[in-house]
Amino acid sequence: MILYAPMEEPIFAPSLLSSDFSDLRSSVGAIEAAGGDWVHLDVMDGRFVPNLTFGPKMVSDLRPRTGLPMDVHLMTVEPERLVAAFAGAGADYITFHAEACVHAHRLAEDIRSLGAKPGIAIVPSTPASLIAELLPFVDLVLVMTVDPGFGGQSLIPACLDKCSALARARAERGLSFLISVDGGINAETIRAASAAWADVLVMGSAFFSAADQAAALREARATFKAARTGQGGPAPARPH
Ligand code: DX5
Ligand code: ZN
Repeated sequence: MILYAPMEEPIFAPSLLSSDFSDLRSSVGAIEAAGGDWVHLDVMDGRFVPNLTFGPKMVSDLRPRTGLPMDVHLMTVEPERLVAAFAGAGADYITFHAEACVHAHRLAEDIRSLGAKPGIAIVPSTPASLIAELLPFVDLVLVMTVDPGFGGQSLIPACLDKCSALARARAERGLSFLISVDGGINAETIRAASAAWADVLVMGSAFFSAADQAAALREARATFKAARTGQGGPAPARPH
């Protein structure tokens, strides 16, 4: 018997990468005021990706400014050297790249023991099968739908097939990680992300360039739900 669970609310995670770095406090406030669910923080080291952003101090300084979960996306080499600092800074989710870490199982367990939720990310050229063994040990899988490093790029549609495959694996194996899509999510691509069973929608440029950010999120939420309704198939489980 196939059970169809009621649709879960999508999680919108606006990314500070596209905001004004001279006023991140206001940017976090804008995410909250517009009805964002999480704050997405892109940590770039100039090595794993050709761009640099910020470190754990930025996270700890912003932590008291919002009650929203802080979703840290490490685009760094040697993420194992950084997770304690980000957990100590108050990150709720700490996601590292499979391509940057050999002992991913150990790192996921370390993140959990530090009191944060571990996530694993894959770039567009990495198959979902690479992380099959890790799925029971993470709370989030972040599927990059652009090559990481910059905001404002166009979504690569083929990457969404990995979300559907992960949702199938999740249902078949009775797992409960969230599926996050990151890169090129906007009013046009949200429908396809919903149909691919994404749970978390990272949104950088589409959020911060919107004239009315609350309206942009409201409309994205409505589009997501409309695309999911009638989709059928096994409902992905959610952690609670
Ligand atoms: C890109 C980052 C993204 C970025 C997405 O490497 O991981 O989180 O902020 O930006 P948009 O939504 O503009 O593609
Ligand atoms: Zn990101």
